Amino acid sequence: MKVINFGSLNIDLVYRVHDFARPGETISALSFSRFAGGKGLNQSIALARAGAQTLHAGAVGKDGGFLLDILRESGVDCSAVAIDDQAPSGHAVIQVADSGENVIVLFPGTNHRITEESIRQTLSRAEAGDILLLQNEISSIPEIMREAAARRMRIFLNPAPMTQAVPDYPLELTDTLIVNETEWDALKSHKLPDGLNVLKTLGAHGAVYNDTIRVPAEKVDKVVDTTAAGDTFIGYFIAELLRGQDIESAMKTASAASAWCIRRAGAAVSIPWRRDL
Ligand code: RIB
Repeated sequence: MKVINFGSLNIDLVYRVHDFARPGETISALSFSRFAGGKGLNQSIALARAGAQTLHAGAVGKDGGFLLDILRESGVDCSAVAIDDQAPSGHAVIQVADSGENVIVLFPGTNHRITEESIRQTLSRAEAGDILLLQNEISSIPEIMREAAARRMRIFLNPAPMTQAVPDYPLELTDTLIVNETEWDALKSHKLPDGLNVLKTLGAHGAVYNDTIRVPAEKVDKVVDTTAAGDTFIGYFIAELLRGQDIESAMKTASAASAWCIRRAGAAVSIPWRRDL
């Protein structure tokens, strides 16, 4: 069984600062780095480094070659990623403060140029029971969900970043929703379909599945950078399920992987391989 992750690929422009810039303020960055990122790319890397068979689908511009390199080096099949020479790749401007927290501004670029043809072609490679993983950084999410459901895939949706469109997505087609506290706050007042599984990630407070299974977060003495911690959790959680682990053990491994990630700087580069845990 494989995972098809239809997701964003971003160039992360990361500025380390003592504190985030406030409205009207100009501050100097302490350092600047350019990393591979995007919730989609990060989650594919976590899946593959955890050992799951992973096909990534999406689009990059001519500037996105290094994004594909790190995916391939991690074991991700990139044959469903289109190279679109009409637009630049998506990018993210990220401030990381001394606390390890971040603020992010996204430019979608090619992530918002997903075509009907690529949806049809990619999902024609799915078998019933395969997992479709989605975040909310690409265009055409409802169309992808409908096509995947028609092919009897299991849909895992991470609606990040949250937008007003999410409650109108065909959530009844979703097997599992994976949300952080902010995303859950925005969604919980809406009528959600019966039988939807909800996995909430709560940062330093761990994670909870369907309000019944709780797993604490691993203690981390020095948080360096929380970027991609949630993505690492999601990739490892799904990979563990595919290895036949139960929900609780999958959450525990995902939590350990996430703790490893926040002890290091960057997004994709800070995601552990299974042997690191
Ligand atoms: O989840 C972290 C990711 O969010 C970053 O890599 C950035 O690209 C944004 O998409």
